[in-house]
Amino acid sequence: MATKIMITGGAGFVAGNIIVQSLNLKEDVNIIAIDRYKAYYSQENLSFYTADLLDTLELNRILKENNPDVIVHLAALSDIDYCEAHKEIAEKINTGVTGVIADFCRASGCRLIYFSSDSVFDGKKGLYTEEDIPKPLHFYGKTKVASENIIKKSLTNCVIIRPSLIMGLPVLDEGNSFLWRMIKSMKRGEKAAFPKSEIRSPADVITLSRAVLELALKSYNGYLHISSNDVLTRYDMAKRIAKRLGYPAELVIDKKPDVSSGRAPRPADVSLDNSRAKRILKTPMVGLDEGLNLIIENRGEKEL
Ligand SMILES: NC(=O)c1ccc[n+]([C@@H]2O[C@H](COP(=O)([O-])OP(=O)(O)OC[C@H]3O[C@@H](n4cnc5c(N)ncnc54)[C@H](OP(=O)(O)O)[C@@H]3O)[C@@H](O)[C@H]2O)c1
Repeated sequence: MATKIMITGGAGFVAGNIIVQSLNLKEDVNIIAIDRYKAYYSQENLSFYTADLLDTLELNRILKENNPDVIVHLAALSDIDYCEAHKEIAEKINTGVTGVIADFCRASGCRLIYFSSDSVFDGKKGLYTEEDIPKPLHFYGKTKVASENIIKKSLTNCVIIRPSLIMGLPVLDEGNSFLWRMIKSMKRGEKAAFPKSEIRSPADVITLSRAVLELALKSYNGYLHISSNDVLTRYDMAKRIAKRLGYPAELVIDKKPDVSSGRAPRPADVSLDNSRAKRILKTPMVGLDEGLNLIIENRGEKEL
């Protein structure tokens, strides 16, 4: 029988890539996606629900109607500065909804794969392992830690993924993709600003999507850091991307830290140690250049 995988935030950047990659699995899976707006793509193994996850009655109705084997919980307010300025709604969506989904998983035995973030760390150390203690600098990071704690207390059949900054193209022309925003700016000949002060280990979305699908179908439980094998500043990362895609590297400029009021502080070095992912996953963890190659190979109709 096909495994039923429910994906929240189904119209978003990462979800779209997971949904497309599910077509390459040799296992039989049915994807049930939920998002605020109807996604305007269709796929043979995909059914799509339009719902606001804050409508708990409706969310529970959809959960019970479909009774998924696995939930990949991606939906979130992912704009860090928006979360800082709108804490109440950020807490409700990023943490409150996780509570409702965790309750369903506990009652039904459904497996949960939760998307946390590298932003749970304060950035003072770098190369964080799954054993390091979270200490978020901003409210978005706090909502992710609160969700992790709810899951840790109530579930055993679960994975808490902490991805690094995610590099890739959205399936829809929307979502939280820095790479797509960067390409659109460079196509217009505009400068793209990336800070030298922020060190990351950017995960490519194709490797990440394959890892998530592998985790959905295997029995590993616990935290897992998914990142590139390369650690670099966001500025150096953007220069390498521009060069690989054939844009002038001069278009990439340094972005000085923005200390204007209302902007959330950013951690300096939240690179992740991906040794555990390398050990337990068949999906290989790759470096920046290999990750870019995967994105280019899987770009579909997108012109880069
Ligand atoms: N992108 C990254 O670099 C990165 C890095 C680390 C962790 N993450 C985490 O990975 C996950 C996926 O990120 P992403 O980049 O794919 O974000 P995204 O493109 O913003 O996708 C999130 C989706 O969730 C939807 N959503 C939010 N609130 C909802 C609600 N109340 N009801 C229904 N749908 C709702 C959003 O709809 P709207 O657009 O209408 O709000 C959006 O389509 C998030 O949990 C994010 O925190 C992302």
